[in-house]
Amino acid sequence: MSDQFKQEAAERAAEDVTEGMRLGIGTGSTAEFFVQALAKRVAGGLNIVGVPTSERTRDLATELGIKLTTLDEMPQLDLTVDGADEFDPELALIKGGGGALLREKIVAAASERMIVIADGSKEVDALGRFPLPIEVVPFGLEATRRAIVTVLSDLGLPDVLVLRGGASQPFVTDGGHFILDAHLEKISDVKALATRLVAIPGVVEHGLFIDLATKAYVAGTDGVKTVLP
Ligand code: A5P
Repeated sequence: MSDQFKQEAAERAAEDVTEGMRLGIGTGSTAEFFVQALAKRVAGGLNIVGVPTSERTRDLATELGIKLTTLDEMPQLDLTVDGADEFDPELALIKGGGGALLREKIVAAASERMIVIADGSKEVDALGRFPLPIEVVPFGLEATRRAIVTVLSDLGLPDVLVLRGGASQPFVTDGGHFILDAHLEKISDVKALATRLVAIPGVVEHGLFIDLATKAYVAGTDGVKTVLP
């Protein structure tokens, strides 16, 4: 069922793509449905160019015949369409469950608009039930982890940090970094946490996307609804 909802939201977003658009293309299972829907429109004659947010998305889009470029070639985009792990009523997001948060955020920030596509299970009153991915440089991992723990304690948040993949075989991002997943339950001040995290040397990026999404298409048993911030 959830796959069907993801597909419905993705297909709705593909309808918003217009001739000549410069598109950021997201990562994850919902974004993959978007790539498929977009490929159908391209096969039907739509002319667009995309910037993928991960190697995974690059491979799929290439395979399906979508014209791609890089942010260096095309630093300003019209629209990014991407999934999310959670979104709140202001359309603040947690992203990075698939590990692509850094490129996803760079691409979203370079876009005039960002549409989030999701099934209804991603909608929450407050972010935090989904563990927050924090992308860190491998060098000095323990020092960075301690600095993050200090920030979490200062903000009254639980300090449970899990190295994705485990110590013996850590997950490595497209950028060559590790991910610490922070189990926070409920983030009361999203902006304060975001500001404090990026100030830590060794933290490359975090999965809080604030003031980036301009619309969400959310699919459920009642069809696809539009959520605005
Ligand atoms: C990838 O790094 C993530 O940000 C995904 O966009 C997010 O995890 C949503 O993925 P699904 O669409 O697979 O739930």
